[in-house]
Amino acid sequence: MEVIVRKTSEEVSQLTAQMVCVQLQQKPQSVLGMATGESPKRTYEILVEKCKAKQISFSKATCFSLDEYVGLDSSHPQSYRYYMNKNLYSHIDIEMQNTFVPDGLAKNLQQAAKEYEEKIVQSGGIDLQILGIGRNGHIGFNEPTSSLASRTRIKTLTESTFKDNARFFAPSEFQPHLALTMGIETIMEAKMIVLIASGEAKADAIKAMVEGPITAICPASILQYHPKTKVIIDEAAASKLQLKSYYQWVRSQQEKLFS
Ligand code: GLP
Repeated sequence: MEVIVRKTSEEVSQLTAQMVCVQLQQKPQSVLGMATGESPKRTYEILVEKCKAKQISFSKATCFSLDEYVGLDSSHPQSYRYYMNKNLYSHIDIEMQNTFVPDGLAKNLQQAAKEYEEKIVQSGGIDLQILGIGRNGHIGFNEPTSSLASRTRIKTLTESTFKDNARFFAPSEFQPHLALTMGIETIMEAKMIVLIASGEAKADAIKAMVEGPITAICPASILQYHPKTKVIIDEAAASKLQLKSYYQWVRSQQEKLFS
């Protein structure tokens, strides 16, 4: 796990976007895993700018979203399909048929989950997975005590995640308790993972993920076991890390080496 601490959330987004650009420049037909939520929004904005400036192209890329609510159709502003179209896909040169989001409206959700896994395999597997993290340490919608060997499936959201995400829904609006999410093992099969987080509200989750034990109570902690994971966080999200200055020192040495 490589921990990269940046002063601001803007710098977190800039560095993450740069990593996606390098990935696309090295392999135009990359398969990307996409996260939703506030954390990656600015990164997507930067990628849109770079694509419009013709510095990168998604024309040969394929994108898989991590998760989707059960019961929201793609025209619902809180659905993750809507989010991806609005924040990224509608503004870049990707072929829409190469963008995938789990089908939260499928009659047979288990079958849809199985097919999602198959599509990822058929596409050659995920080259670069972008992740956010929930305050309770979830990745995708893999809530605490999810099996660390789980595959794409239906998950019931915890009360804390439900409450955290309530800010996106109007008070009278239906907010799903269920989601289809890539499993933890599905995520772990990505060749490279970039997890991003900003703000003090994420500091406990980041501490548990980076420096705590590997445990299903903090699903993101399994990333300690992934050989190519970068954790890109701002100062506030890094504020509870015991070895924060060590991570900063390692990074500064690397930057000196490669500058
Ligand atoms: C949601 C999503 C996750 C996301 C998390 C954090 O529950 N399913 O994929 O990482 O929230 O979201 P945010 O970036 O808004 O804090």
